[in-house]
Amino acid sequence: MSKTILFKNRPAGKPVTSDFEIVTEEAPDPKEGEVLLKAQYISVDPYLRGRMRDEESYIPPFKINEPMESMVVAEVIDSRNSNFEKGELVSGMLKWKELQTSVGTGLNRVDPDLAPPSAFLGILGLTGLTAFLALDKIGNLRAGDTLVVSGAAGAVGSVAGQIGKIKGCMVVGIAGSDGKVSHIEDKFGFDKGINYNTTEDMAEALRKVCTDGVDVYFDNVGGEILDAVLQNINKDARIINCGAISLYNETKMPTGPRPEGILIKKTALMQGFLVRDHVKDFGRALRQLSNWLEEGKLEYDETIVEGFDKLPEAFIGLFEGRNVGKMIVKV
Ligand SMILES: NC(=O)c1ccc[n+]([C@@H]2O[C@H](COP(=O)([O-])OP(=O)(O)OC[C@H]3O[C@@H](n4cnc5c(N)ncnc54)[C@H](OP(=O)(O)O)[C@@H]3O)[C@@H](O)[C@H]2O)c1
Repeated sequence: MSKTILFKNRPAGKPVTSDFEIVTEEAPDPKEGEVLLKAQYISVDPYLRGRMRDEESYIPPFKINEPMESMVVAEVIDSRNSNFEKGELVSGMLKWKELQTSVGTGLNRVDPDLAPPSAFLGILGLTGLTAFLALDKIGNLRAGDTLVVSGAAGAVGSVAGQIGKIKGCMVVGIAGSDGKVSHIEDKFGFDKGINYNTTEDMAEALRKVCTDGVDVYFDNVGGEILDAVLQNINKDARIINCGAISLYNETKMPTGPRPEGILIKKTALMQGFLVRDHVKDFGRALRQLSNWLEEGKLEYDETIVEGFDKLPEAFIGLFEGRNVGKMIVKV
């Protein structure tokens, strides 16, 4: 038998566990040309919230009563496909199922000699690629720049901040607790952290810390923190709109100050980023990330939640800041 997690209800506001249902089904048999996969690690990601809305986006919405899906590291436990051998580990966009078949399209081999398998969902997966390529394509970091990163103790943010340090920047991180602030300073080498939950005037707090202004903002959260950073940008600043988690559960989009005046005055660039648009650069980015890991220049954190049934809870935990680094469920 094999468990599956179905999407049951489009949430209004923050998702709850009853938006999902766990069902048990017969384990599938691989047909000719297929592999049978057993999930080992499943990634939960903020963008999955966007797929729960019935709206047009860069990726189709989840359908009610169909399985959730995300990036998964799985073991090939049976193979009727000559490209894959039993016992191999692969990663790919797969269903939230303990066991599933695949024809192999979109599966990538995971090399456990390079890093532990879960790392292929984080630092050597879309997380690391997002941090690296967003800075590479839009950030245009120069030594001496001041880089501000929000969601700084999270999966993407913690890598983005460290890349800033590798490039010789002054790096300031914004995160949701004092513990996370100390962590990004002590473990990841951020020059300074700010706890947004205890900071009344974020624009003023940033002004005090970023004494030379902000050259690059790596935005993972959007909303009021973005508004505050914009008040501190330098001429020709680059603002990377990577994520806007503070808005993902909003039912009515809040309005804020209008950014166009500041962007004009500062001749600043504000640009959205989607990692999926840069597949041709993945090889180059992964080589650089692996080298930095090997040289000890990059560190990473994972919050591993144990048990397939905990997938909905782990996903909801992203909106409560329950993770440090990449949130992953170990099946
Ligand atoms: N554009 C792309 O291609 C791409 C790819 C991957 C990820 N992303 C985006 O990048 C961002 C980070 O993703 P991730 O996978 O690395 O997740 P993550 O940062 O590891 O986890 C989410 C974090 O967001 C913070 N958060 C939750 N609610 C918040 C709120 N209302 N205001 C401010 N912070 C809040 C929490 O940390 P605190 O405790 O600090 O609040 C939480 O730990 C997300 O917005 C995601 O959608 C974009």
